[in-house]
Amino acid sequence: MTQVKIEKARGSLLREVIKQWKYYLRDQGPSKLDNYILDIESEEILHNTVTALVESGDTEVLVAKEGSKVVGFTVVTVNTFQNLYQTKKLIGEISAIYVHREYRGKGVGSKLLEEAMKYLQSRGVEIVLAEVRADNEASMKLFTKYGFTVDHTVHVLLKEL
Ligand SMILES: CC(C)(COP(=O)(O)OP(=O)(O)OC[C@H]1O[C@@H](n2cnc3c(N)ncnc32)[C@H](O)[C@@H]1OP(=O)(O)O)[C@@H](O)C(=O)NCCC(=O)NCCS
Repeated sequence: MTQVKIEKARGSLLREVIKQWKYYLRDQGPSKLDNYILDIESEEILHNTVTALVESGDTEVLVAKEGSKVVGFTVVTVNTFQNLYQTKKLIGEISAIYVHREYRGKGVGSKLLEEAMKYLQSRGVEIVLAEVRADNEASMKLFTKYGFTVDHTVHVLLKEL
């Protein structure tokens, strides 16, 4: 187990997460959408979008740091549109979780997921959702290790208009 610290991403830490975001997308597995991923200039757009989400207060980005190096991150969201779900319990979501390739298999993902759940619990969340590709073995292992079970399977359909 490598020694990492988890902290909330703001300022330069958030910038570093944005830089690593494209690897997060790529490493989840191939998708037809890969053909449409914006190039490096889009980092500004992504940064503004994520910053706005964090400022809304419903989304938090947690980073895993080894020393000053960002080695992973997770994005967690508290669902404030609770009434749309018609649930008695507040729902939260792990919207993203990523560990730098060289740091995988050392417990960093587990630590991020533990902190993500602690954070959501501190916000009153009682049910946590995560969308994981069925072929993403590492991610399925990570979530099932913490007691997540498959609720239903979704096929993502795509058609160009
Ligand atoms: C999924 C991911 C975050 C896991 O991070 P990690 O730091 O390697 O996870 P950990 O080291 O904490 O491992 C957690 C568990 O998963 C298992 N695991 C990790 N990688 C695995 C792999 N490639 N195959 C099978 N099991 C794996 C570990 O053995 C561990 O279980 P254990 O504690 O019982 O041994 C990382 O692989 C990643 O960033 N993947 C690319 C991005 C991605 O797909 N994110 C998920 C989107 S939902």
